[in-house]
Amino acid sequence: MAPAGALLLGYLLGSIPFGVLLTRAAGAGDLRQIGSGNIGATNVLRTGRKGLAAATLLLDMAKGAVAVLLAAAFLPGTAVLAATAAFLGHCYPVWLKFRGGKGVATLMGVVLALYWPSGLVYAAVWLGLLATVRISSVSGMAAAVSAPVSAAFFGRLDLVLMLLALALIVLWKHRENIDRLLSGAEPRVGSKRG
Ligand code: G3P
Repeated sequence: MAPAGALLLGYLLGSIPFGVLLTRAAGAGDLRQIGSGNIGATNVLRTGRKGLAAATLLLDMAKGAVAVLLAAAFLPGTAVLAATAAFLGHCYPVWLKFRGGKGVATLMGVVLALYWPSGLVYAAVWLGLLATVRISSVSGMAAAVSAPVSAAFFGRLDLVLMLLALALIVLWKHRENIDRLLSGAEPRVGSKRG
């Protein structure tokens, strides 16, 4: 019963498409028709609304963290299941015909709540690369890959396989970004192209 509850709780929370909802509520159009078409904070930034992008980032992180914390508090032993379900809910939300986001912010929230030392490494890699390289996809993919690596480094071998699987999904979700990176067409954050 608890595992099914954790899966449902995680998926329902994770599948809330905050970027789409906030952008629409602000009268800034359909996010899926803007920029990369992605539903995450980076694409919300392309609408020119910095506050909206920051809110999307925080809410996409929060839904992952809240899923893990609620499961840990009320459904003992199911935190990892809830974490996985929240991440999959963001990437494959039923409400958007399963065409969801790339998982970077939700995975950050999930990792912070599951095991904060790896969450801090994740946030540091993401922020550090964002500030220097200024390409959102590069910082997001590197941060995602850092999660299983840091979990292994810190001896949390129980989390490594799950985090590796989620990092691979993040990479798969970025396949168009990877094509653009290889052809030199991936825009930098804050540039005219986005
Ligand atoms: O977190 C999403 C980011 O890594 C890439 O977003 O819109 O540039 O494809 P976008």
